[in-house]
Amino acid sequence: MSRAANQPRDLDALAPNDLEAFWMPFTANRAFKKRPRLVVRAKDMHYYKPDGRAVLDGVAGMWCCNLGHNRAPVVEAIQRAAAELDYAPPFQYAHPQSFTLATRIADLAPGDLDHVFFANSGSEAVDTALKIALAFHNANGQGGRTRLIGRERGYHGVGFGGTSVGGIVANRRQFGNLLTGVDHLPHTYNREKQAFSRGEPEWGAHLADDLDRIVALHDASTIAAVIVEPMAGSTGVLPSPKGYLERLRAICDKHGLLLIFDEVITGFGRLGFAFAAERYGVVPDMITFAKGVTSGSAPMGGVIARKHIHDAFMRGPEHMIELFHGYTYSAHPLAVAAGLATLELYRKEDLFNRARQLEPKWIDAAMALKDVPGVLDVRAVGLTAAIDLTSRPDAFGRRAFEIMDRAFHERDLMLRSLGETLVLTPPLIASEAQIGEMFDKIAALIRETA
Ligand SMILES: Cc1ncc(COP(=O)(O)O)c(C=O)c1O
Repeated sequence: MSRAANQPRDLDALAPNDLEAFWMPFTANRAFKKRPRLVVRAKDMHYYKPDGRAVLDGVAGMWCCNLGHNRAPVVEAIQRAAAELDYAPPFQYAHPQSFTLATRIADLAPGDLDHVFFANSGSEAVDTALKIALAFHNANGQGGRTRLIGRERGYHGVGFGGTSVGGIVANRRQFGNLLTGVDHLPHTYNREKQAFSRGEPEWGAHLADDLDRIVALHDASTIAAVIVEPMAGSTGVLPSPKGYLERLRAICDKHGLLLIFDEVITGFGRLGFAFAAERYGVVPDMITFAKGVTSGSAPMGGVIARKHIHDAFMRGPEHMIELFHGYTYSAHPLAVAAGLATLELYRKEDLFNRARQLEPKWIDAAMALKDVPGVLDVRAVGLTAAIDLTSRPDAFGRRAFEIMDRAFHERDLMLRSLGETLVLTPPLIASEAQIGEMFDKIAALIRETA
């Protein structure tokens, strides 16, 4: 087993003496605190445990560290920024680098997606995009267009807007009625028709036509926008069926609905392109982004809007605020510095292309699990894979949870479990040997937990 070259000197300084106060997000708190999975530092493809053991990162932190960890140019950029400009107000004032980063991001986006609104997370990005959609129609004299359409099994973060258009029942049922005036498209997964598809499944484009049914029910004049992930990540990697997104775009155009791609996961190389919109040749009206924009090194999110969306607001007296929305930490100097250094490293190392070239081998490695007993389906697209497992009687999710826990403690591998599904989304710098190591360890754990 590998160990860090320079072991931490003072283990006591790194080990917490009380785990109680921190109420952990999206975590089984009681199980965690009995058997914590702690990491104290990271470099490239590895995290390091308090005892110095290296853990292979199979999930890019949480779908975000696409560059791998603690890359020197990003670290140095953040250090420089911290010493130079701790904070600059983003309302009524600005710092120059925020304009540079907005331009770089817009340059990566397809079509006339050319204006960037900064937030600090995917959730804020989503709620920003939904609010821009409502305000856009309002600005155009169509204030009756207030309905928002999401999709079953979709994940759009945890704000009230994102939770409302989201479609994962566990994320919704604790929180009452959420926003009114929301409807959902059907999800795109059908195991019988799609199991073990490589990349985008052949079956399922017709599911986009349900949008026509929803429009017929509510009338287009009441609908503002449709939001979908080009690849639904947090529900366990559901790639869009071939032709699905094109059909969604056409139906939105027919009825004057805005189409939002939530690219918080798919942006910045995860599917082998700067944005999935490019992979699928479909230009949405807005793209939400976060995670990969700084490779996870600083909190940042945002919305890229098409020119006509932005321009619809640029009316009225010039001293007036055009959009009454924004965050104290929009375009925070540290996050902007991290973003600029991250995008530069993606470019220098041609990492989006690297991901694209690695994809067939990645899919081969994932699909090799097909014959492992207890594997119900494997889905893989870009550098992302999910493995559905059979459950133990009356204990849905316990097997995948156990595999995730044992992978960390016994195999020095970080992965994610979602229900009874294992998910892998490594940094885009993963070597073929490391990819092999991930799937070998997972195969062994699936066998051991039968
Ligand atoms: C598609 C999508 N949208 C939004 C979010 C929310 O992002 P955050 O956790 O940064 O708020 C996520 C997080 O995983 C996501 O996958």
